[in-house]
Amino acid sequence: MGIKSEEEKKDQLAKGYRYQTNSCDECHTRHSFSKKEAQDPRACQQCHMGYDHPQWEMWSSSKHGTRWFTKEAGRLPEDAAAPTCQTCHLPNGTHENRTAWGFLGVRLPLPEDKQWAADRVTILKALGVLHPETGEPTDRLELITSVDMVRTTQEAWQVERDKMINTCSQCHSKSYATTQLELGDSMLQKADRVMAQAIEIVADLYKDGIIKKPEAYAFAYPDFLYFMQTGGGDMENLSSIDQTLFELYMKHRMRTYQGQFHVNPDYAYWYGWAMMTQGLGKIQAEAKKLRTLHELKKK
Ligand code: HEC
Ligand code: HEC
Ligand code: HEC
Ligand code: HEC
Repeated sequence: MGIKSEEEKKDQLAKGYRYQTNSCDECHTRHSFSKKEAQDPRACQQCHMGYDHPQWEMWSSSKHGTRWFTKEAGRLPEDAAAPTCQTCHLPNGTHENRTAWGFLGVRLPLPEDKQWAADRVTILKALGVLHPETGEPTDRLELITSVDMVRTTQEAWQVERDKMINTCSQCHSKSYATTQLELGDSMLQKADRVMAQAIEIVADLYKDGIIKKPEAYAFAYPDFLYFMQTGGGDMENLSSIDQTLFELYMKHRMRTYQGQFHVNPDYAYWYGWAMMTQGLGKIQAEAKKLRTLHELKKK
């Protein structure tokens, strides 16, 4: 987050970043630039809601949010503990606003666990930051790291994790907080297993020429961030199976770990994990159909 030069803003807007210009009027609106307004969790709602980042919905229906609303209504004492978005993300008014896993739920270096590391490579390819054949970093990796969207070292990740544990520890024991966040990490690991299986099925369809590379894609390989380069999320030219895959990543994988991190098991499980496994099932069935059809056409 920070002040962008006019040139940087123009460049980002031209690329289609309606909000990622991340300037100072996001939480403090332009005319009043009120601190009280920025401290209200509703200041974050406009952007952190909906399809790929329903933190608002998760927080407001969690115990944390429910207590905040109950307090607002005057049914809990003024000093009742109820953490807001700002409590956890801008503690003591710091404006760093950075998390360990970041919005995309990835980081470098790769995890130690072999299977998880392999799954991560598959996901990074589908994010277009590693070349699908050579595995070499692409220009997009630079783009993403230049706007600080991912932590690129273990240390950078750990700094954010430790800060968060300290924040939770204002109200919970340190060990409780640590365990809760580790559960989030393990949700992410499990989600990545499902995700990588799904990506590989669709990638093989591209490889075998059963579905064709959409124009907007960098490679004949699933590309979850293609809209960053085309400036819009126009999905009509994606095959149906690739649309299901996109949803698996952008909607369901996001919800699986975001839900755990925002203390909302219902989101993590039913809107996240359960939908991921359903999506994988759909992709398996659809791929089988497409392959059968492809064979029949050859005959
Ligand atoms: C993500 C939301 C968000 C964005 C974006 C943001 N702020 Fe803030 N800002 C806050 C919050 C929340 C507070 C109140 C912090 C607190 O509780 O003390 C605050 C407080 C402030 C204060 C008052 C500090 C004080 O203690 O009186 C200033 C000045 C300020 N912000 C400047 C900026 C500037 C400059 C930018 C752009 C570089 C910016 N803010 C962007 C959320 C934001
Ligand atoms: C005008 C839109 C907007 C508002 C309002 C806004 N944000 Fe954001 N926020 C963004 C965008 C865009 C990103 C970058 C997402 C990405 O990494 O791709 C972001 C990223 C974040 C991140 C993740 C940073 C990381 O680790 O990658 C956190 C945490 C966050 N915002 C918290 C807040 C909080 C708390 C508030 C309210 C005080 C707030 N935001 C208000 C648009 C907004
Ligand atoms: C009790 C603390 C807490 C509160 C309250 C909270 N968050 Fe978070 N948030 C977290 C944790 C923990 C993470 C994941 C940190 C990590 O990556 O290890 C996170 C991650 C995020 C991210 C990055 C993507 C993701 O979801 O993992 C965004 C964006 C975000 N929070 C926005 C918000 C917004 C907006 C609110 C209020 C509606 C909010 N958070 C309320 C603790 C909190
Ligand atoms: C400002 C105080 C405060 C902070 C900071 C805070 N919490 Fe909480 N948390 C609460 C309160 C209050 C409850 C409800 C406790 C009760 O049941 O009496 C709660 C409940 C919970 C629950 C149980 C929810 C349920 O449905 O039973 C979890 C899990 C949790 N918090 C995790 C975290 C994590 C992880 C962090 C840091 C990322 C955190 N909390 C930060 C105050 C806080």
